[in-house]
Amino acid sequence: MRYEARLLPDRFPDRTNRPIALDHARAPYAEALQRYVTTIGVRAGVPGHLADPDRGLADLLGGALAWDIPPLTDGIDTEPDGSPSALDAARALAADAWGARRTWFLTNGASQGNLTTCLAIRHRGEQIVVTRSMHSSVTDGMALAGLTPITVMPHVDPIRGMTHGITPDELDAALAAHPQAGAAWVVSPSYFGAVSDIAGLANVAHTHGVPLIVDEAWGAHFGFHPDLPTNALRRGADLVVSSTHKLGGSLGQSAMLHLGHGDFADDLGASIDRALPMTSSTSESSLLLAGLDLARRDLVTRTDRIADSIASLTRVRDALRADPRFAIATDDVTDDRAVHAIDPLRLVVDTRGTGLTGHEARHRLFHDHGVHIEMSTDAVVVALVGAGSHLDEQRLINAFTGLPHGTARDVIIHPLPEPGDRVLDLRTARFADTEIVPATEAIGRVSADSLAAYPPGVPNVLPGEAITAEVVDFLIASAAAPHGYVRGSLDPEVTVLRVIRD
Ligand SMILES: Cc1ncc(COP(=O)(O)O)c(C=O)c1O
Repeated sequence: MRYEARLLPDRFPDRTNRPIALDHARAPYAEALQRYVTTIGVRAGVPGHLADPDRGLADLLGGALAWDIPPLTDGIDTEPDGSPSALDAARALAADAWGARRTWFLTNGASQGNLTTCLAIRHRGEQIVVTRSMHSSVTDGMALAGLTPITVMPHVDPIRGMTHGITPDELDAALAAHPQAGAAWVVSPSYFGAVSDIAGLANVAHTHGVPLIVDEAWGAHFGFHPDLPTNALRRGADLVVSSTHKLGGSLGQSAMLHLGHGDFADDLGASIDRALPMTSSTSESSLLLAGLDLARRDLVTRTDRIADSIASLTRVRDALRADPRFAIATDDVTDDRAVHAIDPLRLVVDTRGTGLTGHEARHRLFHDHGVHIEMSTDAVVVALVGAGSHLDEQRLINAFTGLPHGTARDVIIHPLPEPGDRVLDLRTARFADTEIVPATEAIGRVSADSLAAYPPGVPNVLPGEAITAEVVDFLIASAAAPHGYVRGSLDPEVTVLRVIRD
């Protein structure tokens, strides 16, 4: 498919006001990099490997090593006359593809997008209303920026332990109770592919006079095929963090930050520009930047391949539905008011009918069948296919149907405990003097750490919150369960906790 080249509107003030021709069949950054690789005969600068073929790194990367070039290279990152560079053109194309006013390329993942966003919104107010299933980079960013999270508990499937999002009504109630909050921040889609009602959430946030930030780490591919959910930006979000490497097809660790078009764009755009150098390397990887440019080109121009990925997973789902041992866990998930749509590139299979928990099934699929599945809970496994990637569907189906015919397994998912009250602000708690005490003696003390039992991975305690007996019991029980894991714990059994020194 070929796209008409057209001129970028003048409103795009990224480094230069000069118009950039938009042709999505091109990958200007990657093409400029290729020209450099074929024309430069001698390299005498960083990176110090100099693309020398007689190095271990060259054995690993082959010709790709030559694509690892220094920043601020003329003809790629900059133009001597100040006209738009290949990097400017690549970012402009990405902004156009996702429907953004501006797009920034990130080389330290969506984590960098979250850290940057925290720093960039600090001037809007100290409190932020946020879904409690926020990624750890949001908690860290809030500590760095001095933000206090007002958390809203996401919906959690009580049978399968899957996390969804929050509803517009729940956001409305939280913003009404905290009128001084400077922004609203939600995670959509969830790890399980549940997409929130972003248009409704954006409407609520705007009615309360605050921007809506969406952590769309798991939805970088949204909007690039009619059967995929619309992306958050096109549904009214003001700032979107996107982990392009997850399902969007770029290299690991590369991501994007997209700015929306609404009333907050001027303010947020300027503050992102100031915050980004605080989280970026001055030597961003050209390989990662080129990967983002090429991923955008493929997403826009190879819709037929995305259709193949979707059709392939649909056939896998149909094959597993025909086997009474399996249930497709997303089939009835839209009954939950917090779920607006489901990502068709996620395959969520309830394996309990085989007599195996999701964790056991994932282990078997890996060791007995050579199939790597993204993640598992007690009840389900979650597989995924990147948009436009080919899946060996028959091998995947054979691996699932090769699982045992055991007695159906019941697993007990414990309801999440109510978090303790906030005693200290997040930043003070995160950087305070601390001590480590036995978990039972931590009850009534103030937590210095963030701890989240998996699944579902929603933080049970955040820095500055009181540690309750209910939370301690839950963490210890979660850690003791087969495959139990508590992220942030000092030891696997949660025998000790780090608290603020009195
Ligand atoms: C919701 C969410 N946001 C952000 C991130 C961070 O993404 P990255 O690994 O690209 O830094 C993750 C990682 O899994 C995530 O699940």
